[in-house]
Amino acid sequence: MTLRLYIPIDAGALAVGADDVATAMRVAAARHNAAVDIVRNGSRGLYWLEPLVEVETPAGRIAYGPVAPGDVDSLLRAILGDGAHPLRQGPTEDIPWLKRQTRLTFARCGVVDPRSLEDYRAHGGYRGLERALSLGADATIEEVVQSGLRGRGGAGFPTGIKWRTVAQTKGPQKYIVCNADEGDSGTFADRMIMEGDPFVLIEGMAIAGIAVGATKGYVYIRSEYPHAVAAMEAAIVAARRGGLLGAHVAGSSFAFDMEVRVGAGAYVCGEETSLLDSLEGKRGQVRAKPPLPAHQGLFGRPTVINNVLSFASVPIIMDKGAAFYRDFGMGRSRGTMPIQLAGNVKHGGLFETAFGVTLGELVDDIGGGTASGRPVRAVQVGGPLGAYFPRALFDTPFDYEAFTARDGLIGHGGIVVFDDTVNMAKQARFALEFCALESCGKCTPCRIGATRGVEVVDRIIGNDNRAANIEVLEDLCNTMKFGSLCALGGFTPYPVMSALNHFPEDFGAQPRLQAAE
Ligand SMILES: Cc1cc2nc3c(=O)[nH]c(=O)nc-3n(C[C@H](O)[C@H](O)[C@H](O)COP(=O)(O)O)c2cc1C
Ligand code: SF4
Repeated sequence: MTLRLYIPIDAGALAVGADDVATAMRVAAARHNAAVDIVRNGSRGLYWLEPLVEVETPAGRIAYGPVAPGDVDSLLRAILGDGAHPLRQGPTEDIPWLKRQTRLTFARCGVVDPRSLEDYRAHGGYRGLERALSLGADATIEEVVQSGLRGRGGAGFPTGIKWRTVAQTKGPQKYIVCNADEGDSGTFADRMIMEGDPFVLIEGMAIAGIAVGATKGYVYIRSEYPHAVAAMEAAIVAARRGGLLGAHVAGSSFAFDMEVRVGAGAYVCGEETSLLDSLEGKRGQVRAKPPLPAHQGLFGRPTVINNVLSFASVPIIMDKGAAFYRDFGMGRSRGTMPIQLAGNVKHGGLFETAFGVTLGELVDDIGGGTASGRPVRAVQVGGPLGAYFPRALFDTPFDYEAFTARDGLIGHGGIVVFDDTVNMAKQARFALEFCALESCGKCTPCRIGATRGVEVVDRIIGNDNRAANIEVLEDLCNTMKFGSLCALGGFTPYPVMSALNHFPEDFGAQPRLQAAE
């Protein structure tokens, strides 16, 4: 009997030796004369257990991890025997970290063979597209509107409304563009989907194309993601061969095809208009809005531009219906969010759950606190433009409006954890330095403001006229916040001001309330 093993091909697993483990497993199998079929799956997202080796058994998959090449021989002997091994984690689906999740967008990631269209179909793939074809364009858009899905790239704009705008805009050609630039610090969900379940993105984009009348799509992936690029390119070829892309999508009268474009990796090229410029072969620079991309986007044509996770959530919405998806979540944040725990955290990885879980649960309970074992002092939520939250705000529920109310943002769902050795004045300086480096240079508040900001923070840290310079910093942040053309300049004040407001002692300043008295 052939033994089926799963060893991830996800870049995060490869970085900690998954390829070496796979090679060692083949060698060990030959030595033990064991027939072994190794499937290179996506990651389950429990990164502290990577490389995670799973074994298919009649009772389901059993997980072992983290496996080093030196463990492989004893592991294979155990698998061929009674299964007992020090690295045994038990049935994969019963690992508490996985069991507590609600995996809708990530339902198949780590489960299927990302290179197999048959496997995708066997796990419910393409049911959403079939339903969209039977419903027609208008009803499909209505379903996405009713699901409450909001863009997962950062701004949280309702996806269905965006699609409706493009559908209602006339144009000889329309486009679907997937934003896979994923530049936010501590985020990797887009990459995981593209490497672990690429067909779900293709299906989501095809549904968008059918809904708005677009026949051509592009996935814009940063060059730092070579494995995701390869996985998407292979999946597109397979989908084309399987009749799911091309002149007659799934045998219908709708045409839709797509291709991958690789970006050079500028943070600002994740901003949608900058991305469109880059896709057109120009230097990535932010365009003034209006016109919106929905009216005049790629090559001046009506364009849907959405994040990977937004598109990848559509197939399950179309398959199970808007109400099913909308029933998860809280307030105006409907469905689930693939949250990414990173930085100095004990259990880092991908945790998909309904909106509403608190920051404290995520960091202390699910994340298990810091990897260093020291107390958690701050977390940055939402990438480099997100606010730093102190422990006092750990009761904040993961919800767009709740974070906005506390001068923060959930962005793309990344949480970066810091212990008590962090210096928040240096983090504020870093935010401004990052903005200065990544600024596209189009508007003055950001281009000049970020550089001046670094200088001002340096003076504050150096105790040069500190009180006056703190005022200058606040003034500068307001100018950037209200005067910048895009959110790079407009949101950099969030990490800066949250660091100053919540951790004034690191700036040598009085606590904010006392200072105001
Ligand atoms: C500086 C900057 C960087 C951004 N980077 C990304 C990114 O890497 N990925 C992404 O999906 N959205 C990014 N966005 C948000 C996009 O501009 C846009 O809102 C998003 O692609 C829309 O898709 P959604 O509605 O599905 O979220 C960025 C925005 C700014 C201002
Ligand atoms: S805020 Fe910065 S990145 Fe955005 S348009 Fe202005 S200069 Fe460019």
